[in-house]
Amino acid sequence: QELKLNLEQIEKGGYDHFMMKEIYEQPSAIMDTYRGRMLPNEGIIRMAGVDDNIERLANAKRIIVVACGTSWHAGLVSEYIFEDLARIPVEVEYASEFRYRNPVIYENDVVIAISQSGETADTMAAIKLAKEKGAFVFGVCNVVGSSISRETHAGAYTHAGPEIGVASTKAFTTQITVLTLIALKLAKYKGTISDSEFRFHLQELERIPAKISQVLEKNEQVKEIAFTYKDAPNCLYLGRGYNFPVALEGALKLKEISYIHAEGYPAAEMKHGPIALIDEQMPVVVIATNKGHYDKVVSNIQEIKSRSGKIIGIVTEGDEAVKELADYVIEVPETIESLTPLLTTIPLQLLSYHIAVMLGKNVDQPRNLAKSVTVE
Ligand code: G6P
Repeated sequence: QELKLNLEQIEKGGYDHFMMKEIYEQPSAIMDTYRGRMLPNEGIIRMAGVDDNIERLANAKRIIVVACGTSWHAGLVSEYIFEDLARIPVEVEYASEFRYRNPVIYENDVVIAISQSGETADTMAAIKLAKEKGAFVFGVCNVVGSSISRETHAGAYTHAGPEIGVASTKAFTTQITVLTLIALKLAKYKGTISDSEFRFHLQELERIPAKISQVLEKNEQVKEIAFTYKDAPNCLYLGRGYNFPVALEGALKLKEISYIHAEGYPAAEMKHGPIALIDEQMPVVVIATNKGHYDKVVSNIQEIKSRSGKIIGIVTEGDEAVKELADYVIEVPETIESLTPLLTTIPLQLLSYHIAVMLGKNVDQPRNLAKSVTVE
């Protein structure tokens, strides 16, 4: 018994929980994801699974992403990336819906299945259906040799290392990293991105691990915010564009491990319902980085403020407008818009972690949840 306990402590590498260890592993996990694949100075991305099927992938009339849970959120981020950079239309589907919907799939569709474990039953069934209908299926998995990695025609591993915490953290950010590399590679091949833009993206991606480390230095500040809002019964997460899926993921993290009801919404959609929930009891986490729709998000924040909601802003360093309105702001370093999810996700992971710990919940093994869902 004692030996087992010690082993577990060693495995946790000095952290109290696997989740925290895995949050802190993200800078190195992302480096492992792109190591050997991208050469920013030469302007090259090498990925065997993509290189060997470049015609098939670049000529896709449509990409259909199938996934569940957090992996589905990474898929939503990739929708923005693929459409923006590679100009390929994308649909993102819950695998469990896709498989029972008699979906229309054409032979020149590419299906991308995203799965940390590579064992999720619904995602597996969606892959089988897509293959039957003649689509080319590409897997983005973390676990090497997993069922999904074997069942797909080609793929790219995330190389995040083992993820033990049920609430997914480093799997999410490494999935986004792999999907970004694929989109950039296709964009270059198709000529939808200039050489200089392509190189600039790679250089910015290379700077992400160090920037995540900077965000992790905000841990104590996030802990204070967690203490302030830990007893809230509800929490709303808002974002737009690339950061709309991050809002969904932030809400999922809080629900999963702290059992606080949380909802993620596109900020502009707030006026069609959730705004009715806002009062002085309601913490609203708003992702408001300086790119994309910043001014629009600031006006969304004003709407929350005028209804006495409590505002926690995730902003770019040096922000002024949100700081004036928000109760708290957490700053993240500046980067290009498509890479902001890799930074804005981090404080949301930390926030849910600290709230769950303060509430005495089982962070690594939340009730009713499993790390990999191999049954329907
Ligand atoms: C479970 C896990 C989630 C995960 C989802 C999909 O619900 O608790 O963290 O996002 O399954 O898992 P996958 O392994 O396919 O990414």
